[in-house]
Amino acid sequence: MKNLKLLSALFLMLAFLTSCLEDREELTVLNYTDEEFATLAATLDLPSTRDSYGVEFPDHLSRRGVFPPFVNDAKATLGRVLFYDKHLSKNNTISCASCHKQDHAFADDKAFSEGFDGGQTARNSLSLAAVVNFPTYYGGGATFVRPRFMWDERAETVLEQSTMAIEDDIEMGMQMHELSAKLGELDYYQVLFKKAYGDSYVSQERILDAIQEFINSFVSADSKFDSGLNMVNDASMTFSNYTDAENRGKQLYMQNCATCHSTDLSIPVERYANNGLDSDNADPGVGGINGISDDIGKFKVPPLRNIEFSAPYMHDGRFATLEDVLDHYSQNIQNNPNLDARLRNGSQPIQMNFTEQDKQDMIAFMKTLTDNTLLQAERFSDPFK
Ligand code: HEC
Ligand code: HEC
Repeated sequence: MKNLKLLSALFLMLAFLTSCLEDREELTVLNYTDEEFATLAATLDLPSTRDSYGVEFPDHLSRRGVFPPFVNDAKATLGRVLFYDKHLSKNNTISCASCHKQDHAFADDKAFSEGFDGGQTARNSLSLAAVVNFPTYYGGGATFVRPRFMWDERAETVLEQSTMAIEDDIEMGMQMHELSAKLGELDYYQVLFKKAYGDSYVSQERILDAIQEFINSFVSADSKFDSGLNMVNDASMTFSNYTDAENRGKQLYMQNCATCHSTDLSIPVERYANNGLDSDNADPGVGGINGISDDIGKFKVPPLRNIEFSAPYMHDGRFATLEDVLDHYSQNIQNNPNLDARLRNGSQPIQMNFTEQDKQDMIAFMKTLTDNTLLQAERFSDPFK
C-alpha cells in the first residue's frame, strides 16, 4: 500500500516534470506568439516553427576552402514572403516569382516575361537557382573575379538588382520609397519585420536585405554531379555514381564547354562572352553598358545548374530545348566580330560536330546538375494562401 502511494507520487512528479519540459520546449521552438501567428495565418501559410535556411556546401567546395555564409532564418522567411508578394508591383499583379518560378529553377518558362502592365521584358528571365552573391564564395586570394548580375552585368549585387526589378517601368513599376509605406500597412509585415530586425519599421534597406538573404539561400549544390565530384579529386575523373552515358557526356562537356562554364559548375571561368548566336548584334549586351566596343554582343556566361528546368535558353530565349543548344554549338556558331577565341579557329568559327550519341550523352550529363531540393522544398515555395 505504502509502495503504491510512493509510486503514484513518483508518477505524478514525473508527469509534472515532463509537462514542464514540454512547456520549455514549446517556448524555444515556437517563433511567434499566438497573436502574431494568427496575424500571419490570416494571409500566409508559414510554419509556426521557422524554416531553416542554413546553406551547406558540398565537400568539393569545402576542400577548396570555399565556405557558405550564415543565412539568417528570420530574414530569409521575410524575404520569401516579399519574393512572392504581388504588393511589390504597382497594381498588385506581379511578384518576383511571376518571372522567377520555383519549378523552372527560378527562371521563366517564357522567352520574355510579362510585366505588371502587360509589357514584355527585353530579355529572357535569368535562373536564380545558382545566383552566387556570397562575398565568402570568392574568398581571400581566390582567383575568381566576382560575376555581376543580369545578362549585361549591369547590377553588382542582388540588392542593386532587386531595386532595378521593383522600379523597372516594365517589370514592377514601383518606387522604393512608396513601397516601404505600402508594405508598412500590411499586418503580416508588422510581425515579420519585427522578427527579422527587432522592430516593425519597414524600410527600403530592410526590404532589399531580406530579399537578398532569401536568394542567398538558393545554392543548388545538392546534385548527382556534386555527389560524384565529392568522391574524386578532379571533375575530369570517372564518377562512380554516373551511368556510362553520363560519364561520356561529362567528358565531352569538360573538353568543349568547361573553358567557359567551369569544371565544377560553380563560378563560370569567363564572366561574359560572345558564343556566336548571331553574326551581328541586335542587343549590344555588356558593351551597351560599359561602352567598350570589344564587349558589344557579349553576355553573362550563365551557370548551368538546374539547366534541365530553366528553358527557354539564351538571353533572348531563342532555344526551346537543350538539343537546340547543342545543335548551335555543333553546327551553327556564327562569325560575330567579338566571337570568343575559344570558339574560333583563325578567322573562322569552329563547329563542334557532335554526333547524335554525343548530344544524348551531354544532355544526360546536364541532367545530373539538378538539385531537386531547390525545385521542390516548401521553404522556397509560395507562402500565400
Ligand atoms: C516581369 C518579370 C520580372 C520580375 C517581376 C522580376 N524579374 Fe528578375 N529578371 C527578369 C529578367 C527578364 C531578368 C534578366 C534581365 C536582363 O538581364 O536584362 C532578371 C534578372 C534577375 C536577376 C539577375 C540574375 C543573374 O544571374 O544575373 C536577379 C537576381 C533577379 N532578376 C531577381 C529578381 C527579384 C528579387 C525580383 C523581385 C524584386 C525580380 N527579379 C522581379 C525578370 C523579372
Ligand atoms: C566561349 C565561352 C563558351 C563556351 C565554350 C560554351 N558556352 Fe555556353 N554560353 C556562353 C555564353 C556567353 C552564353 C550566353 C549567351 C547569350 O545568351 O547571349 C552561354 C549559354 C549557354 C546555355 C544557355 C543557358 C541559359 O540559362 O539560357 C547553355 C545550356 C550552354 N551555354 C551550354 C553550353 C555547352 C553544353 C557548351 C559546350 C558544348 C557550351 N555552352 C560552351 C559561353 C560559352
